[in-house]
Amino acid sequence: MSDHTFSRRAAILGAAALPVAGLVHAQSQPTGVVISSANRNDGGIHCCAKALEVIQSGGDTLDAVIAGVNIVELDPRDNSVGYGGLPNEDGVVELDASCMHGPSRRGGAVGAIRGIKTPSKVAQKVALETDHMMLAGEGALRFAKAWGFQEENLLTDESRTQWLIWKRSLRDRNGHTFWESGVDAPPAKKAAEVEELKKLFPQYGEEFLEEALENALNPPHGTINCIALNEKGEMSAVTTTSGMAFKIPGRVGDSPIIGGGLWLDQDIGGAGSTGRGEENLRVCGAHTIVENMRHGMSPREAALDALKRVARNFDNDEKRLAAVDLDFYVLRKDGEYAGASLWGPVQGEKRFAVASGSRPSHHEPSVYLLARK
Ligand code: GLY
Repeated sequence: MSDHTFSRRAAILGAAALPVAGLVHAQSQPTGVVISSANRNDGGIHCCAKALEVIQSGGDTLDAVIAGVNIVELDPRDNSVGYGGLPNEDGVVELDASCMHGPSRRGGAVGAIRGIKTPSKVAQKVALETDHMMLAGEGALRFAKAWGFQEENLLTDESRTQWLIWKRSLRDRNGHTFWESGVDAPPAKKAAEVEELKKLFPQYGEEFLEEALENALNPPHGTINCIALNEKGEMSAVTTTSGMAFKIPGRVGDSPIIGGGLWLDQDIGGAGSTGRGEENLRVCGAHTIVENMRHGMSPREAALDALKRVARNFDNDEKRLAAVDLDFYVLRKDGEYAGASLWGPVQGEKRFAVASGSRPSHHEPSVYLLARK
């Protein structure tokens, strides 16, 4: 949608030059407002609805956002978060999460934790029950088990199959892989590869196999971020993810980095991210956005400014930036909010989810910095 598209020139001119398209509903929400990333299977819609329900029944804002993202963490169909998330290169699911509680100004995070379906809840325990900010790897798992979390296998048949298909896609310069039979096998063409996969994995439809092949060639990195504000002006936020698919074991993205994939200042507002964590960390995105708002920018201007910094790190070269996907979600203390993406949509609208006292959970389009041709 061209209304949501800001040219690079406009972006470089600065936020003041951006058209005001009335896309972001700036309104105080006396009975609470929750925003989140959109996610698959209406995950964001369900997340925001749940978080708002907790707030409206008098629950704490941190409990609210955690209850919201738990729905997505426990949904095996979302392969970018929690149970069913795509694994690392060893075929092991490693999860990252962080949370911040506005009223107490506490935060907690876990990085590269294995075997726990709801890492956001472990991050909450780190925030509220320890004197630390972040636990990682084996220590994070031991901490979770000490609090009664159950260690489980987080791979589903679907995510294991996607990992196998990724293994098969790693070929030498002659197109050979040890993961298919016959040293003389010719290099696979995509259509032939899908036919071969159908024979190997007859339990899956063509759509799943094509997506798995695409994920093998361009490993995805989804996530969910959720931020809430209650009628007392209290705020909390959480980000949780299985991180980049097929990553090097131990890789930690932006989601558990407080200030990177999540930041919240009770006096100003909160921000979080989904997408390629490495590029977000290079601009400390969530903290940058909240500081931008402290200095007077609107949520939309603040997020677009952070995205401009990402573009600047690539000398504003759109060819190199084409491989980067990054989205921010921003909620200010007065209830104004925005979703902002580096790239405008190829198909459909970039969206985020919103629920408030005045409107049930729904999607809204994000603004974006660059338009895909
Ligand atoms: N933003 C999620 C990640 O890069 O791990």
